[in-house]
Amino acid sequence: MDNFKRTLVTTALPYANGPVHIGHLAGVYVPADIYVRYLRMKGEDVLLIGGSDEHGVPITLKAKNEGVTPQDIVDRYHGIIKKSFQEFGITFDIYSRTTTETHYKTASEFFKTLYDKGEFIEKESDQYYDEEAKQFLADRYITGTCPHCGNEGAYGDQCESCGTSLNATDLINPVSVISGSVPVVRKTKHWYLPLDKHEPFLKKWILEDHKEWKANVYGQCKSWIDQGLQPRAVSRDLDWGVPVPVDGADGKVLYVWFDAPIGYISATKELTPEWEKYWKDKETKLLHFIGKDNIVFHCIVFPSMLKAEGSFNLPENVPANEFLNLEGDKISTSRNWAVWLHEYLEDFKDQQDVLRYVLAANAPETKDNDFTWKDFQARNNNELVAILGNFVNRAIVLTHKYYDGKTPEMGSVVEDFDKQSLEEISVIVNKVQSSLDQYRFREAIKEMMNLARLGNKYLADTEPWKLIKTDEERVKTIMYVSLQITANLSVLMEPFLPFSAVKLQNMINLSDVNWSDLGKTDLLKAGHVINKPELLFAKIEDETIQTQLDKLQATKTANEAAAKTAAPAKENISFDDFTKMDIRIGTILEAEKVAKTKKLLKLLIDTGIDKRTVVSGIAEYYKPEDIIGKQVSILVNLAPRNIKGIESQGMILMGEDANGELVFVQPSKDIKAGSEVR
Ligand code: MF3
Ligand code: ZN
Repeated sequence: MDNFKRTLVTTALPYANGPVHIGHLAGVYVPADIYVRYLRMKGEDVLLIGGSDEHGVPITLKAKNEGVTPQDIVDRYHGIIKKSFQEFGITFDIYSRTTTETHYKTASEFFKTLYDKGEFIEKESDQYYDEEAKQFLADRYITGTCPHCGNEGAYGDQCESCGTSLNATDLINPVSVISGSVPVVRKTKHWYLPLDKHEPFLKKWILEDHKEWKANVYGQCKSWIDQGLQPRAVSRDLDWGVPVPVDGADGKVLYVWFDAPIGYISATKELTPEWEKYWKDKETKLLHFIGKDNIVFHCIVFPSMLKAEGSFNLPENVPANEFLNLEGDKISTSRNWAVWLHEYLEDFKDQQDVLRYVLAANAPETKDNDFTWKDFQARNNNELVAILGNFVNRAIVLTHKYYDGKTPEMGSVVEDFDKQSLEEISVIVNKVQSSLDQYRFREAIKEMMNLARLGNKYLADTEPWKLIKTDEERVKTIMYVSLQITANLSVLMEPFLPFSAVKLQNMINLSDVNWSDLGKTDLLKAGHVINKPELLFAKIEDETIQTQLDKLQATKTANEAAAKTAAPAKENISFDDFTKMDIRIGTILEAEKVAKTKKLLKLLIDTGIDKRTVVSGIAEYYKPEDIIGKQVSILVNLAPRNIKGIESQGMILMGEDANGELVFVQPSKDIKAGSEVR
């Protein structure tokens, strides 16, 4: 046991530029919610803090693309995210956002305190500036050619084609996304948090005093510290964010990673006037639940900020998770490769617990993990339905059948196996508890499930349905034991499967139970009335899974098409070169397939000059009977060529997309055959 009296749990604030997906849930919110529900059931003083991260360049870019304001974007996604978390049963004490007045004030004051204490250094640096738009350009606001792979649409911070991270100044032919003009380099002033100065402290605090942190977290911190820490800019030239609260900082805002973690503090302030108790009292344990991409900010940058400020607690632990992949590919908001929570809630009504179960059982705690719909189905059908659901259903049904829905008393015949099974309950409870205390949620949910397994196996082995005619006393014992396992299960599963736990508790008429009741073998006293059974979990059919797989396949197909970028432009030609081509509008008079070919049509074209035969490779896209009478563009002075024994006199001009689909280049209204194209 430690000396803490209360716990403050924060969860990474998701960016409000898209909805929440299963990666967020598995990495952060499901584990945090399990943990907090567990502490609440133990009667501990705990707060779960969440909110939307509403600043940062990607949000301003999205707004720009859609022609709306950044506030419009964050309002939209904050709404979606907040609602979906709530429906999913993530029990935030507050779900706030970083555009509230309290947050602006809190973040601003925090900066000012550090500024006044001389905790920042000021530095000038070179940055691209858009002279037309009269503003500095964040790296994401510049595109150009990637120096590594030649992709012409690389961003100033990264080339998404080859994955290399870049500096904006690396780009060949940089262009401003805002005005399309070529940016110039200008000097700009920013404030930096000197992490190098905090390095000795961080070294001791993490590497010596927090050896118990998860290996993935400790390892990442060690590697950052070993590489030597550098000062980090905490301001940006941008017009979306918390203004830098010092003179001469016009047009500058706090860097999103400076203000966002302060959002945890702002949200706590909004929640309770006692917020300082949760942030500053040494008897409060601070925990940050995050994904691995956030480790440096929560273990190194934010603690340095808190330390520099001086009055705040530092995190006691940061149980960060690795990433969850989806069907073998990295989850990506921009590529729409995700299972979105709000869509799941639509498609799988009242099945929150199935997703909670699968994500916790599969949580990427020590390494990246994969979510597949097949596994989702299998875990539901083979575990939740076949083990947990099946066991409690049998226990309740048999109680109604044999004892009219009343808990029997322990019979006079009691075998060792019955006693052992009862004793096993507290063994399992202890394992769940110890796993939870160590933030091992996969292990915890597996142990919880072992209680259902125990019950299921107990009934299968004792077969009360066979004994009911011959050994009524033993059957009483068996049903008594089964019901105690059921009752314990209904409590033990609550942090993990809260919706089903409540259903089950209602079925067995159990209320006002909490964690300390676990392990009791008389939770249901003799005579306690059991209600009629309802199904806790339903089998998920193949069609349901196929629908989800089809949806992902459609995304994949769309992404592949979009990824095929237009071919680069050919070398310049002179105007004279161009005028050498004689292109006319012609009309298709006849069309037929060329025998023994798949692609070729033989066309007779009225060119206005003459009627001539052209062989064209369009048979996969046009049927002969559909194109007769159509106007097309034809290059009439192309030297005749022999194609499959037919002399082709000219060429029909076609538009071709990235997938090779061909369409006629046609006049936008009918025009006389022979009209020149130029
Ligand atoms: N928005 C960030 C992300 O999604 C997380 C911010 S966590 C906080 O990666 F500390 F800044 F709040
Ligand atoms: Zn590249």
